[in-house]
Amino acid sequence: MTTLTTAPVSSLLDRLFAENEASFAALNPTWAQIPAEQRVALMSSKTNYRALYTEMKDVPLAVSRTTGAFLYMLARSMNARTIVEFGTSFGISALHLAAALRDGGGGRLITTEFEPSKVARARANIAAGGLSDLVEIREGDALETLAHNLPKPIDLVFLDGAKGLYPAVLALLENHLRAGALVVADNADWSPEYLTRVRSPAQGYMSVPFAEDVELSMRID
Ligand SMILES: C[S@@+](CC[C@H](N)C(=O)[O-])C[C@H]1O[C@@H](n2cnc3c(N)ncnc32)[C@H](O)[C@@H]1O
Repeated sequence: MTTLTTAPVSSLLDRLFAENEASFAALNPTWAQIPAEQRVALMSSKTNYRALYTEMKDVPLAVSRTTGAFLYMLARSMNARTIVEFGTSFGISALHLAAALRDGGGGRLITTEFEPSKVARARANIAAGGLSDLVEIREGDALETLAHNLPKPIDLVFLDGAKGLYPAVLALLENHLRAGALVVADNADWSPEYLTRVRSPAQGYMSVPFAEDVELSMRID
């Protein structure tokens, strides 16, 4: 058995994923009405991301169950001790990553979120999962919260905040990544600049697209 598949985390995740699906279903018609070009501009912006996410502050926007399980398995199999996440939201992916730390013998997850109400919800969910001792939530813009006090080495990174910032956030973390560190980026197709960077061996990464719009990259050295 794992922390993920036993109480209290399993039933907590069932509830949170059900809420997530319901809120996505409610959001979809509004999203579909936005012209494709405007959607790309919104999702890829490096400057106007705050308004978009404030608008969606009551929506979990969480990873799928598959991606959540994938994160848990990666963290467990590489025996990750230090994980950094960009984009906490309600803490659903953080619960998977922290569960992996728990089952692997401990460690530290640093995760960051700029919506105060989401920080409060994530804190409550992580506490309900009994995982608070493993998680540090940094409230604020990742460009600031991840610019200092980073652990070294970082074993695993999960990028899931504003897509246009993926290259900048990776740049903040890069010098702390150990050789063989993994970087998982959700919905990375919204950031062609990020994909160009991690798919170039000359930049120090190996990278492959994975299921469900996930990019899996490894730091070479
Ligand atoms: C897709 S959701 C994250 C979902 C979460 N990883 C999960 O699966 O449970 C993206 C989150 O990142 C936050 N965010 C976006 N850009 C950010 C930034 N620059 N700094 C901090 N948080 C940011 C948003 O407010 C939103 O809650």
